[in-house]
Amino acid sequence: MSNYIFAQCDTVELVKKYDTPLYVVSEDYIVDRIAEIKEDFIEKYDNVWAVYASKAFLTKEMARIVNREGIGIDVVSGGELYTAIKADFPMDKIIFHGNSKTYEELEMAIINEVGRIVVDNLDELHQLNELAKKYDKVINILYRITPGVSIDTHKYIQTGQVDSKFGVPLGEDRIYEAIEKAINSSNINLLGFHFHVGSQLHKNNTHLEAIEIGINVMREAKEKFDFETKELNVGGGFGIKYADSENRKPIAFFTEPIMEKIISTCSKFKLNMPKIIIEPGRWIVGEAGITLYNINSVKEIPNIRTYVGIDGGMPDNPRPSLYNAKYEAIIANKVDEKPTELVTIAGKCCETGDILIWDLKVPKIQSGDILAVLSTGAYNYSMASNYNKIPKPAVVMIKDGVDRIIVKRETYDDILRNEV
Ligand code: LLP
Repeated sequence: MSNYIFAQCDTVELVKKYDTPLYVVSEDYIVDRIAEIKEDFIEKYDNVWAVYASKAFLTKEMARIVNREGIGIDVVSGGELYTAIKADFPMDKIIFHGNSKTYEELEMAIINEVGRIVVDNLDELHQLNELAKKYDKVINILYRITPGVSIDTHKYIQTGQVDSKFGVPLGEDRIYEAIEKAINSSNINLLGFHFHVGSQLHKNNTHLEAIEIGINVMREAKEKFDFETKELNVGGGFGIKYADSENRKPIAFFTEPIMEKIISTCSKFKLNMPKIIIEPGRWIVGEAGITLYNINSVKEIPNIRTYVGIDGGMPDNPRPSLYNAKYEAIIANKVDEKPTELVTIAGKCCETGDILIWDLKVPKIQSGDILAVLSTGAYNYSMASNYNKIPKPAVVMIKDGVDRIIVKRETYDDILRNEV
């Protein structure tokens, strides 16, 4: 009987060593993806750059890996920035995003001399300029624009549509007012524009539409204010493989049409090529991770359904309950056995919606078996909670078949640490 091998490691042995639930992440996979970005994007074009969208999965060790592999990171909060600082991430390679940054977060970004701040609205621009004056610094910014495109993904992960909380709206010349204000702000250096259309995309059309809209803004900015756009950040959103979804595409599938479109549109309007930045998160780590669970119980409702209760669920992976996300899973200690039954994988929270997978085909299973849920590298650990006072799992990183702990398992005392 053989066990499920992930990143050259026997997952059942990992469970014996670290217990469950357990996030397991392959460093080799992450390094391969970044290598692909370097080879097929960064080294292929002049004046382009990539940053890892750290909201997908961030620990100090992850920040160190990303830095060692030579790309930047995007952060969206003081906490993500703090993690990067503690991992000695070079501050000039950080892009600070967020639609609602606090005064303290802006101050933290300024004091630490973060490379670029992506400004979401005019109010923020004003606050940032005042703060920059106080610290006698000039801040590099990009404006996030709302391109107003509709996209084919779950409503909660669409971001570029007209009615969006993200970015400066394009209607009624708001963006030109914003550009003029930035140009006239003493302590602001406007470098260009950013958009992010949405997440888990398997097609390119929305990026291409948004590029057209973004370059139109560049063109008008040049005409109206003689403003030369130095950077255009086209966001992330490149999709990966989950259950029933399409396969992950090579990075070039996204970046080649993006670059062609930008090059041809800039040349049509006689604009100089700005630096082009991409920000993939999920594409780099999504398939790098799995989660291992113990099966606590198997319960059959005659003629209806068999519920398989695991020792995790919604707190370590909220995506099925939030977005109806689909996952593939296998019984790690029974990979050779034929799937014969259909079961439902139920999380342990006191919540009907805490179902990790509806209708999974498995071999005959029993309590004590190990479930491996695949493609959990992105937006699982980073979105984990302590609902029902459940401690967060440990995270183990694997490199060349050798495992090491990068985040310790939480204890009950960790959960109570700040309680008075
Ligand atoms: N850049 C910006 C400005 C973003 O807002 C995002 C994601 C990214 C880059 C990276 O997107 P990615 O390449 O990972 O698709 N929690 C959701 C995903 C939310 C993504 C929000 N922004 C999920 O679990 O599907």
